[in-house]
Amino acid sequence: MGHYTLDLFFDPEADFLSGVVTVDAAATADLDTFNLDFVGFEITDLTVDGTAAPFTRTGRELSIDPAALIPSGEGFTIAVEYAGTPAPITSEAIPVEMGWRTGTGGERYVVAEPDAASSWFPSNDHPSDKATYTFRITVPDPTMAVANGLLVDTITDLGATTRVYEMAQPMPTYLATVVIGSFEIVDDPNGSAVAGVPIRNVLPPLVAASPPAGLELQGEMIDFMSDTFGPFPFDVYGIAVVGNFPAALENSTLSIFGDGFLDSPIFEFVLVHELAHQWFGDSVTPADWGDIWLNEGFATYTEWLWLEHREGPAALAAIAQGTRDVFAESPLPPPGSPAPAELFAGTVYQRGALVLHALRLEIGDDAFFETLQTYAARFGGGNATTADFVAVAEEVSGAELDELFGAWLYGDEVPEL
Ligand code: ARG
Ligand code: ZN
Repeated sequence: MGHYTLDLFFDPEADFLSGVVTVDAAATADLDTFNLDFVGFEITDLTVDGTAAPFTRTGRELSIDPAALIPSGEGFTIAVEYAGTPAPITSEAIPVEMGWRTGTGGERYVVAEPDAASSWFPSNDHPSDKATYTFRITVPDPTMAVANGLLVDTITDLGATTRVYEMAQPMPTYLATVVIGSFEIVDDPNGSAVAGVPIRNVLPPLVAASPPAGLELQGEMIDFMSDTFGPFPFDVYGIAVVGNFPAALENSTLSIFGDGFLDSPIFEFVLVHELAHQWFGDSVTPADWGDIWLNEGFATYTEWLWLEHREGPAALAAIAQGTRDVFAESPLPPPGSPAPAELFAGTVYQRGALVLHALRLEIGDDAFFETLQTYAARFGGGNATTADFVAVAEEVSGAELDELFGAWLYGDEVPEL
């Protein structure tokens, strides 16, 4: 757990990023060398505790040789100054280039899950190493730049504006983001009042002029999820709408939505999905990608909870049973520990949601919702494993649940509900 300060200048015309990233870290072992993940760019200066440190680069690895050994437990500061034209990178997990992307209107945005944070800043790119962040993003006027967290300062000077964002709660590298282009920050006062959390959406002017139906429901969704899971874990929320992205991603406090969702019949449910991740994924983060059902199963089940909230228990029972029957007839693998290329497979989402429904049917509504709340409260701000979740469910319910989780998460056969 440490702190990243991203002090970056981006010129959209020149397609050029430059700046300094400072990492305040603590050694967990005696370090005579250590590695960060970082791809591309030219590194123009690199210091450890203010002293220049030699480094080498191979593939994604940036290997740093501090002047003196850093003893276990010591805090230290790495500063990396770099510049160049950013580019997305391919991930084994997903057939889309991830990281720093360019939209159809020339906007830039970062969608890094699972392993593309290294396409824009040097980091220890592992979900178990969460940190707080300060972003100081400078762009030429009138370009807008938005990052995770609260806007705490705006400084305009010589035709460029620096906006400072603070992400005060620990965040994994894969959820760090910036959105740059001609965007409007559109406050949602009604939604904010209902949610008890400030809601602002980051929209292209044409979208801001006629916001999509459903967007106004986010306040009610936050209210519903706060009742169900516990308080919203961050200081602000909203979505950013971008072009040229065929998905949505739950970046902390600022989910990114490809503009194809805006007139889609599932828009409302994708809003629910990404919002649910703020609790499950963003606040409680899997310690390891193999447990990604803790993200996707939970966010998908929250869509079903929203359906139940809107349409009643029969609608929930129908979608659960229908999904169970589809999986029972298909040869898809179980959701429990997907291969790297299967992290975002349907089984992780849908059968992952069924794990929670099966748990709910087994232990009853009271114990089930108390389990979700206890899990969110206990592991919020940090990391969790499947074993942690199972332990909470057993503690709350008093039931022995190894068999249920074993069958639903890791068994080839799909159990009966
Ligand atoms: N966590 C995202 C979601 O389910 C995944 C979207 C797929 N793309 C990706 N790069 N991870 O909302
Ligand atoms: Zn998801």
